[in-house]
Amino acid sequence: MRTPHFDSARLRQALGQFATGITVIATRDEHEHFIGLTVNSFNSVSLEPPLILWSLSKRSRYLATFRQCSHYSISVLAAHQQDISQRFSTRHADRFQQVEHHVTELGLPLINDACAHFECRNRHQYDEGDHVIFIGLVEHCSAQGGEPLLYFNSGYARLLSAT
Ligand SMILES: Cc1cc2nc3c(=O)[nH]c(=O)nc-3n(C[C@H](O)[C@H](O)[C@H](O)COP(=O)(O)O)c2cc1C
Repeated sequence: MRTPHFDSARLRQALGQFATGITVIATRDEHEHFIGLTVNSFNSVSLEPPLILWSLSKRSRYLATFRQCSHYSISVLAAHQQDISQRFSTRHADRFQQVEHHVTELGLPLINDACAHFECRNRHQYDEGDHVIFIGLVEHCSAQGGEPLLYFNSGYARLLSAT
């Protein structure tokens, strides 16, 4: 493999010019505890069948749980939920404590007042570099709307005009 003409700081900076939304992706571990993390690698893959993707760092303490779980949930955060994004990306014994959420029929946690919700079957995983790419088959989804929380150039951002 050829050595790239850039370091990881430059790659990070270039990738940071791609603005994204922010999600919390969650599931239940083997002790029936809810676990989850802030994720901005979420994206759409296919409408028929309905597929989404996201990638998880191989250094994540949740890697084994997400590899094994049958389903996971996705909450697309709203602009007023920046504190939730911070909470789900930093160390907390129980990230769901003090965060308003509800539990679905599949037993998955969804964050209240989010812009959209998805419940996905854990369909495929692909090992690539320092991340694992997860492909989820969407079994349930809903769009509540509202102003989304954005991530751009390593910082939180908001829409200039919300539709
Ligand atoms: C805006 C934002 C987006 C993130 N996106 C991802 C992601 O797509 N995949 C990932 O593995 N980690 C992502 N992270 C980092 C994880 O949220 C964070 O490393 C993890 O929650 C730390 O958990 P742990 O160190 O306790 O395992 C993101 C963090 C932030 C703030």
